[in-house]
Order: sequence, then C-alpha cells, then structure tokens
Amino acid sequence: MSTLREKHVLVGVTGGIAAYKIAYLVRQLIKEGAQVRVMMTEAATHFVTPLTFAALSKHPVYTDLWNIETSEERDITIRHVKLAHWADIVVIAPASANTIAKLTHGIADNILTVVTLATPRPVLLAPAMDVDMYINEATQQNLSRLKERGFYIFDPPAGELASGLHGKGRLPEVEALVEKIHDILERTPLDFIKKNIVITAGPTYEPIDPVRFIGNRSSGKMGYALATAASHRGARVTLVSGPTQLQTPRGVNRINVETAQEMLNTVLKHLRTANVLIMAAAVADFTPSTVAKEKIKKTALTQSLQLTLVPTPDILTEVAKKKKKVITVGFALETTNELTHAREKLQKKNLDMIVLNSYNDSNPVFGSDINTVTIINRWGEIEELPTLPKIEVAHKILDKVKSFMENR
Ligand code: C5P
Repeated sequence: MSTLREKHVLVGVTGGIAAYKIAYLVRQLIKEGAQVRVMMTEAATHFVTPLTFAALSKHPVYTDLWNIETSEERDITIRHVKLAHWADIVVIAPASANTIAKLTHGIADNILTVVTLATPRPVLLAPAMDVDMYINEATQQNLSRLKERGFYIFDPPAGELASGLHGKGRLPEVEALVEKIHDILERTPLDFIKKNIVITAGPTYEPIDPVRFIGNRSSGKMGYALATAASHRGARVTLVSGPTQLQTPRGVNRINVETAQEMLNTVLKHLRTANVLIMAAAVADFTPSTVAKEKIKKTALTQSLQLTLVPTPDILTEVAKKKKKVITVGFALETTNELTHAREKLQKKNLDMIVLNSYNDSNPVFGSDINTVTIINRWGEIEELPTLPKIEVAHKILDKVKSFMENR
C-alpha cells in the first residue's frame, strides 16, 4: 500500500450515523502513511466531535468557514483554496443526500462544499443514507450528474441500515474505502501537469434547414471520459464538444460547436498551444451543400427530397498539415478489416496513435459506459485492451500518450 505514503487525503464528513466509522478510516489512512486533514459539516459534528478527528489526524479540524482559530495560516480568505489544492484526493464519507444535492447544484455554504467545489483533484463520494433516500429519484439523478462530471462514486453496499430497514445505503467497510482511495491515487498521478490537451467529443450536426440536421449516434462519453481523466492528471483541458447531453467535467474548459467546420475552426485556434490533440469526436463526413434558409415544406415537395452532400473538411488531415510538435490521437470505427483500415488511417492522417473501437454486438460503443478498443501507435506497436469502463479506457490511452511523449 505504498501509494498512500505522504499522500494528502482530505476527508470530508457529513451528517449521518455512519460518521463514527470515519474515525477508523482516518486512523487507517494515517497508518498507511497518508497525511490527513478532516473537514466536517455542522450536522456531522452532532454525530462525532471534531476533537476525535483532531486527535486522530493530529491537526485542527475544519468545521467553519469563518473560524480563524482553526486556520493554520490564520488567513481565512484563501484557506479553502489552499486546502482544495493541498489535497491529492478528497474523500467525502459518509456523503449525505443533502451534501450530494448541494454539490450537484454548486451550492457552497459550508467549508466542505466550498473546498469540494474548488478542488481540481479527484473527489470520491461514499453515499450513506437510508435506502429510501438513496433510491429516491432526486438522489439518483444527482449522483449520475456528479458521476458525469468526473466524481468517483462508491456504490453503497446493501445490508442492514441504522433505521432497521434493509437495502442499499450502507457505508462501505473501511478496508474497501482505503482500497478505492489507493486505486484512484494510483490512477491519477499528476503526470500531465502544465500540458495542454485538446479533446474533441460527441457528434457534429450538419444543418439541412433551420430545424433539421444530419447527425449521428455518438453520445460523447468517450471524449468526456478522456477530458475527466486528463484533468485529474493535472492537464489543462480544452474540450471541443459537439451537441451532447453530458455534464461538463470539473475543471475542464468546454467549447460547444455544432458543425464539422466549426469544430475544425476551434481546433485550429487551440492548436498552437496544444501538446496533445485527441480527436474522439464522431465528425460527420458529409454535409448538405446548401442550407435552406426557411424550413423545407412538405407541400413544396412532389415525392422525394434530394439532398446533395459534400465532404466536410477532415480535421486531422488539416491538423497534419500544420502540425509541429503536437501529438495527435485519432479514433477509428470500422466494421471490416479493422486493423488494416486503422493502420491506413494512422498513416494517411499522419497520426501518432489511433484508437480502434471494436464494433460488434458485445461492444455497442454508442451511448455505452464501456468500450473495447485496440491502441496502435506510429511505430506499429499494438495493444488490445479488454472491455473496460470508458474512464479506464481513457486512462489507458493517456498512459500510452505519456509513454509516447517520453520515448519519441
Ligand atoms: O476517416 P474517419 O472519419 O473514419 O477517421 C476518424 C478519425 O478522424 C476520428 O478521430 C475523427 O474524430 C477524425 N475526423 C476528422 N475530421 C473529419 C472526420 C473524422 O478529424 N471530418
């Protein structure tokens, strides 16, 4: 468990009966060599006293935005920012329905929510509450929005609850929490610090008339997972996004575009300062040659509507013409001769790496949270990955980019 040595773990405790278990968590983290600070909501202090956590962590506990006494540097104005950046990871356990809702909506009315909103580092939430509160649609929707924004959520185990009810909502065992913290820290080294990464995601919409367009089924999830992963690893991320339903990952600069042409313009604008460009977007290959000014009326048509489509600019090819140092990663989705076509694409578009989505019944790709890919680099090295959650695939791609940067 060496990953925890000297790591800064900021533990946030909210008001729930499971708060007492966090004393064991803090003790275990310290035993494993971590430096721990604790912040608590007012409600949490009704369950466990700050003194307990102060004694265990050997540091003052943060309970109040305004209390100068507990401020080590006596500077309350920037204390929350310092704490937010001090952390290698923020762990909110137990995470109450109330705090989950506040984080979802950006409400920052206590030290815990302020710091959590301000941190650029990974945040792990361990929801623990009564089963009815947990399965409530409001809580579930909030959790899925936070997940999309890159929060790590520990799915609560089912079992006997303090209320006497049975169901989901227990705080995980301390060992399981420590293991998860360990995994997240191992996954998110700050190895992209000061690197600018431009990532494209989602589909493009090519307009036919003011209300209709040609689009595709891309959900944007792979590109958004890449943005989340890169941001957790310290990169400055610009996410050039086609239309999606997804939440913007924390700390990411998102620029919305609609058409392939707009995506090209935006990518070129950010290319000069970019160290890495990852084109995860499913850019349309064709666009209507003209866009009707008014909505095309059914009555104006006799029997069928003819659309003339022209090719869109190929963004990667345009980038290849201008590229100096930027590392470029493309994606490929093929249905036949997958490897051969992916290799051809890598060469044709002068890419450093290509990620081949395997498209078959067991790998739906679009809209799914998992993906099966093969990564090929310009030296011909191939790595076939097993089916993994998209966030894991994203980290693997970044691992490859990192080693490519070091070895080229
Ligand atoms: O040639 P194909 O469209 O299959 O290549 C896919 C890769 O090229 C993806 O990385 C995609 O984002 C990128 N692309 C592009 N410009 C286009 C179409 C695709 O850069 N017009």
